[in-house]
Amino acid sequence: MISTGIDKLTFYTPAHFIDLSTLAKRDNIDPAKYQTGIGQDAFSVASHDEDIVTMAANAAATLLKDEDTSNIDTLIMATESSIDQSKAAAIYVQQLLNLPKNIRAIELKQACYSATAGLQFACAYTAAYPEKKVLLIASDIARYDLHTPAEATQGAAAVAMLISANPRTAILNPFSGLYTEDVMDFWRPNHRNTPLVDGKLSTQIYLKAAENAWKDYINKGGIAFSELAQHCYHLPFTKMGLKAHQKLARSANIEADLSTFINSTYYNRLIGNSYTASLYLSLISALDYRDDLAGCHIGMMSYGSGCVAEYYTLQITENYQQYRYQKHHQTLLQRREPLTLSAYENYWHRPEYQVSEHILITPHTKGEYRLVEIQRHERQYQCCK
Ligand code: HMG
Repeated sequence: MISTGIDKLTFYTPAHFIDLSTLAKRDNIDPAKYQTGIGQDAFSVASHDEDIVTMAANAAATLLKDEDTSNIDTLIMATESSIDQSKAAAIYVQQLLNLPKNIRAIELKQACYSATAGLQFACAYTAAYPEKKVLLIASDIARYDLHTPAEATQGAAAVAMLISANPRTAILNPFSGLYTEDVMDFWRPNHRNTPLVDGKLSTQIYLKAAENAWKDYINKGGIAFSELAQHCYHLPFTKMGLKAHQKLARSANIEADLSTFINSTYYNRLIGNSYTASLYLSLISALDYRDDLAGCHIGMMSYGSGCVAEYYTLQITENYQQYRYQKHHQTLLQRREPLTLSAYENYWHRPEYQVSEHILITPHTKGEYRLVEIQRHERQYQCCK
């Protein structure tokens, strides 16, 4: 059988962040609640000229540099921070990156889970058409109301992945464990800019769904938990992944080994929740921080509120180290500037497009692509290389 999976992957995150000790000071709470209690140090904040399209274009531009794009005939964008109820954000990205016009471009939605559905669809597609490649991008800005317990779990990032036959980074293994349950833990009705969230319920459902998806995977004949060299989880905050890791280890009747978890958390701890991109950011973290994964199998637990969970495994290729973007990722994080509280709250209040006919957006991003203006409800983007 032909192998398919992730050929290469990289991320983009905005160049501004808020240190969680700044939020702790504002609210007069112990900073350890964030650093230890939820396992987060900071989160990236998108400026007004950045959105899911510009972050996606920035991530994909790095990925596609020096790539032959003529065989990419499908562009899938996974997001829950959609900019339009009808038109797919993927079409803006296709245009910004000058991708071929004989391409299908679509957007997928199911909270933080949909990039995993995109991966499955893309792998099945490239198995059927091995000469084709799929560009899969997960891009999200996690935003909660100010002065709520969820505020500390915001963030912003995009992960771009090239999906192909005979991939150079990770092969998708057979079997997937699945779990879906209709539950109101986190949702965002059309009339709201921020989600409604039952925080405590969401953490319980996350663990229940993770365990059920993993059990389904094992019942179908999947690889034992103890045989996996690394475990990656959807990380709304890194403590959530730690709890899932401990829960799955208990279900597998083994002691949780933190050394097979911790490397997947470093980027997420600094960037915050990136919804659809979060699990794949944790995969990049594990691949960048570990040099000993060649040939190893690793566990992937995808969760999206509402809820859907999927547990699957990847086999890392022999030469994955050659296809990493470690230096680029470090540069993106090192160039970030901390925001003051007032600058952060200013960025948090995104322009209210519906009340004005023409909004000109001041340049702030350090990325290559920016949102320039919105006129007659049309978004205009620019490449500023
Ligand atoms: P909260 O009420 O601020 O937190 O909300 P808490 O009081 O429960 O404290 C959090 C932890 O900090 C606790 O640890 C405390 O003990 C500890 P735990 O008992 O859980 O192990 N703590 C301290 N530790 C050290 N020193 C201290 C200290 N004080 C307290 N001084 C909550 C936390 C996560 C609920 C909130 O941030 C929230 O609502 N976040 C948004 C929802 C969320 O992220 N849910 C996660 C699961 S759902 C999911 O992952 C899907 C999602 O990504 C969306 C999607 O799918 O689209 C969100």
